[in-house]
Amino acid sequence: MSIVVARQLCKDYVAGDIVVKAVREVSFTIEPASFVSFVGPSGSGKTTLLNMIGCLDPPSSGSLEVAGKDVTGLNSNKSAIFRGENIGFIFQDFNLIPVLTVFENIEYPLIMVQNWPVQKRKKQVEKMLEAVGMTDQGHKYPNQISGGQKQRVAVARALVTNAKLVLADEPTANLDRKTASRIIDLMKAMRDEFSTTFIFSTHDQRVVKNAEIIFRLEDGELQTESNGQGGDS
Ligand SMILES: Nc1ncnc2c1ncn2[C@@H]1O[C@H](COP(=O)(O)OP(=O)(O)OP(=O)(O)O)[C@@H](O)[C@H]1O
Ligand SMILES: [Mg+2]
Repeated sequence: MSIVVARQLCKDYVAGDIVVKAVREVSFTIEPASFVSFVGPSGSGKTTLLNMIGCLDPPSSGSLEVAGKDVTGLNSNKSAIFRGENIGFIFQDFNLIPVLTVFENIEYPLIMVQNWPVQKRKKQVEKMLEAVGMTDQGHKYPNQISGGQKQRVAVARALVTNAKLVLADEPTANLDRKTASRIIDLMKAMRDEFSTTFIFSTHDQRVVKNAEIIFRLEDGELQTESNGQGGDS
């Protein structure tokens, strides 16, 4: 079963008389445990497409399957439940909750969505802290750690519910080059360990090289698919 199947996917933004065709008849298939990047210039439709895959914004036309479910016409309640159970998100500006510790930030999705018993939750958070190399940082608050460490925490938080799909819109945009490539390496290591599918967007050519499958967007249209240089698929 493919993890994402998009067929003739379109997104139009309408404001008065003006229609912006942000995504135009895009079709593609992504297999489980892939490491995929959408790349393209500013305004090419990367965020719009990721928001549709993440069930944050419905398509205008076409069809979309995520994790075996047709999500094309899901209402916002059902989308929220589906997201919570299936998809993890990593953001450009980390989006950690400042009043919660690192440990509590990672634990949060488990409390919100899955309602795990306390002991099982603690074990799972400790496992994720270790996986991202932050074992001894759990007691700190977000303002006490670096940008790269914040993004490590965000990676752990995205994976803590055992999501099969993680979406990351420009996850390295606020990081220096070296830290950016470490975060991409970490995401790839998480893919190897947990068989999670990662889909990230970037307009940084140096970052995109680390993807195994690259989809290029131009003016909302999908250009040819290519293999990255860093991968084996
Ligand atoms: N909410 C909105 N309402 C109207 N137009 C929008 C909206 N969101 C995006 N657009 C338009 O849709 C097109 C695609 O935007 P999108 O944000 O998906 O691009 P992007 O590739 O993510 O760009 P960037 O690299 O700058 O993040 C652009 O022309 C943008 O102006
Ligand atoms: Mg964007």
